[in-house]
Order: sequence, then C-alpha cells, then structure tokens
Amino acid sequence: MKRRKFIVIAGIGTVAAGGLAYQIHSNYQSDKYEQRVADTWRHTNTVSLSSDKVMEELVRYGTLAANSHNTQPWLFKIGNQRITILPDFKRRCLAVDPDDHHLYASLGCAAENIAHAAIALGLFANITVNDKAEEVIRIDFDQIPSVKSELFQAIPRRQCTRVAYNGKKVSSHKLKILEATSGYDGISTRIFTSENDMETILEYVVAGNTNQMQDHAFVKELKDWLRFNPATAMKYGDGLFTATSGNPTFPDWLGSRLFDLAFTEKIENEKYRDQLRTAAGVIAFISEKDDIEHWINAGRSYQRFALQATALRLQHSFVNQAVEVPEVRKQLANYLNIGERRTDLLVRFGYGPRLPKSVRRPLDQVII
Ligand SMILES: Cc1cc2nc3c(=O)[nH]c(=O)nc-3n(C[C@H](O)[C@H](O)[C@H](O)COP(=O)(O)O)c2cc1C
Repeated sequence: MKRRKFIVIAGIGTVAAGGLAYQIHSNYQSDKYEQRVADTWRHTNTVSLSSDKVMEELVRYGTLAANSHNTQPWLFKIGNQRITILPDFKRRCLAVDPDDHHLYASLGCAAENIAHAAIALGLFANITVNDKAEEVIRIDFDQIPSVKSELFQAIPRRQCTRVAYNGKKVSSHKLKILEATSGYDGISTRIFTSENDMETILEYVVAGNTNQMQDHAFVKELKDWLRFNPATAMKYGDGLFTATSGNPTFPDWLGSRLFDLAFTEKIENEKYRDQLRTAAGVIAFISEKDDIEHWINAGRSYQRFALQATALRLQHSFVNQAVEVPEVRKQLANYLNIGERRTDLLVRFGYGPRLPKSVRRPLDQVII
C-alpha cells in the first residue's frame, strides 16, 4: 500500500475508533447531562421555600434567561427585599458585541424573568436602570398576592431552537398576542410574515453572516464558547453546547478539528436560508435611543416575547447577523424605514422540534 493512502486510511480509522469509543462515553455522560438539565430548568417548590431563600430563588429564575453565546455575563447582589444586577465584563464578547449591546440586553432578559417569577412568589418587582452605576439594574420588591402567569409557567420551557422549523404559518390571533406582549418602554416591535419581507430579511442575514464568517476574530471567539460534548458543557456550565443547536457531540480534540473543516461560509449561509424559509415569521426589536437603558429594555422585550411564544408552543431563535454588523444594520434600517433608531435584535419564530437544553453555572458563581 502506498504510504499516503495508508496514512489516510489510518487517519479515518483513528477518527472512527475515537468516535466509537466516545459514543459509549457520550451516552454515559448524557444521563448526567439530562440530570443537570432537570435540576436547572425547574420551577420552585413554593411549599417548602423558606423566606430567606426567596431572593436566591428569584436570581435562579434570572439565570434561566437567554443571554448572548450563553456567556451568562451577569452578577447578582442580594439585599433586603432587593436584587441588583451587575455586568460581568470578564465575559464580554468583543468580536461579536464590541459595544456590549448584547451583554446589557442579556441583563435585561434576566431582569424580566425575575419580574415574572416574583409575581408568582407574591412580590411585585420595581425595576430601575441606572447606566452610570455599576449595579446597573436595581430591583425592589413589594408584597402582592401571588399569581402564576402563563409567562412565568413558560420560564423553564423556553429555549432558543436553532434548527429548521416545519413551515407552518402562525394564526393572526397568535401574532396579535405576540405583538401585544412584546412591546416595552422605548422599544417597538415589528413582525414580518410575508414571503417578500422574509426573503429580504434573509438577504441581510446572509450579508451579515458572510461578513462574520470572514472575520477571524469572530470565528475564534465563537469557537471559544462552543462546547463539543456534555462533559465539557457541564464542566464550564456555560457556552454553546453543540447538541443544543442540533449538532453532533465529539471529544474536544475532534470537535475542534471538525469545526475548522465544517464551519464554512457556504454551509452556514445555507443553514440560515433553510432556517428562515421554514420559519413562520421574524420579529424585530427596535429602540428609540441607542443607549444602555434601551439595550436592557430590548432584552426585557425579547424575553417577554420568548416566554409568550413558548406559552403558545412556538419555537424561536435569533438571526442577529443582520444587526451585529454595523453596515448591514444600516441597510436593514433603510429597509425598515426607521431612520436613526437601532434594530437591537432579530428573532425568527415558528413551529418546530425541541432540542436539548443549555446549562447554567451554579448560583454561587453568580451571586456576589
Ligand atoms: C442579546 C442576545 C443575543 C443573542 N444572539 C444570538 C445570535 O445571534 N444567534 C443565536 O443563535 N443565538 C443568539 N442568542 C441566544 C443565546 O445563544 C442563547 O440564549 C444561549 O445560548 C442560551 O440558550 P437558551 O436561550 O436556549 O437557554 C442571543 C441571546 C441574547 C440574549
């Protein structure tokens, strides 16, 4: 056998054997992963909840919010009937989010979850934002009768579902509910469902994605936050575990090499074409002012939408490529005819499968 041919066959053999060995390992680990998910994505047992644990429990609900790259860029301080949320700048993503827009939006998502959970625990959350303070979000609570709303019920079920959906349309009744729930102070939403709008938005998503795929820093940063197997996802308790995006799991060494081979502009653009063309619609979150307070409110607005969509048994995922690249965001703004206002977030929704859930870090790592 010629030397080159032998090396190729030996290489494939090693990968296959590694893959097989890992399969066995992976099944074992998955049980542990499922247990971790069940422990994370659960409601509070209010009957056995002691009063000094209420604030901690509210923080736990906050950590179940969506957040950029699952970096969980938040820290929480607990006081007497008060929770404050601080940005964790060690977890910022400078390539995809150079102005910390997504970081602050993620804090808004957490605050919104806390507000809904608080009502279920008999507390009204008064949320104030002070963008000059380190404790940028302050939440003070007043006693009220407890109500378990459908948005609260949806908190542990919500997930970002990053695969193709089934193309089924969403009724105008449900679209109206989504629109009514999502609006927020200084944030307006626009829902697009026509083929013409969806195809145009797709062009901007592909333009943004193409730009990002050619940006070495963006690709490296994304890869750093990928977790290729359940063991690594659990070890860090953060990041983007491949299975949560419908991708296979691998040992770290193999996942890293396969990512370099398979993460191409062409494949990724095709993926987004498929994802948008099988979605029922796209919602844009647009803020009146481009500042920290509005970024936080955009996060709150999205989280409300996400909980409502979940309650309506809809799936959703972000297609932010079109708003993350400034030139493309400007072109999208022209299309939306919104002048100088900023499109903060872009999310597709529709009917589709559910995927494995993401993990979170334990509370002792985020409460200071
Ligand atoms: C501000 C913000 C920006 C996000 N941007 C994207 C994005 O561009 N693409 C994507 O697939 N997910 C995006 N996400 C979703 C996160 O990756 C997701 O929330 C995180 O991985 C945790 O997963 P979960 O929401 O399913 O719990 C974003 C989330 C937030 C809050």
